Amino acid sequence: MIRPFSLSDLNAILKIERESFPKSPYDRMTFIRLHSLYPEHFLVYTGTTDGREDRIWGYIIFSPEGHIISLAVVPSGRRKGIGRELLRKAMETPHLKRLQAEVRRSNLGAQAFYSRMGFRIVGVVPNYYGNEDALMIQWTPSVRKSH
Ligand SMILES: CC(C)(COP(=O)(O)OP(=O)(O)OC[C@H]1O[C@@H](n2cnc3c(N)ncnc32)[C@H](O)[C@@H]1OP(=O)(O)O)[C@@H](O)C(=O)NCCC(=O)NCCS
Repeated sequence: MIRPFSLSDLNAILKIERESFPKSPYDRMTFIRLHSLYPEHFLVYTGTTDGREDRIWGYIIFSPEGHIISLAVVPSGRRKGIGRELLRKAMETPHLKRLQAEVRRSNLGAQAFYSRMGFRIVGVVPNYYGNEDALMIQWTPSVRKSH
């Protein structure tokens, strides 16, 4: 199930964040600030463990303009379609003109994921991560023409 983030999810999110972005994890205050800025665009994927719908498997945060601020899935839960479901939810946002993100040049897994989801590389920001370039990637909804 995908639902909005609540503050009681914070510790689980911080753990996933540290495991997923060990070089530059967001801290507790950053998540609290992002939640207050974008309460409707901070979503968590929950699933069942021991019959209880409680475990958080991943999350996505994006701005109303379509900038993906963070997307991560628990390492043991990857390649099961969770990232795809979270991203699809963002793609279904009404009136969205595009989704954009930055990905480390070395992050080949995320590049393959975004490419599979229809994103294209639209630019490079040298040394965006200090000593590593960012690839700027973008997805635009396909326009459906009515006759
Ligand atoms: C990127 C990430 C969110 C993908 O989440 P996920 O739940 O594992 O992705 P999915 O299972 O939905 O993958 C959908 C498709 O994307 C592609 N894909 C996903 N991860 C891939 C990888 N590591 N290598 C190659 N292709 C990959 C595959 O085509 C996959 O379909 P398949 O498993 O049927 O072949 C996850 O790997 C992650 O949290 N990475 C660390 C954080 C990160 O890099 N975030 C993105 C930068 S903002």
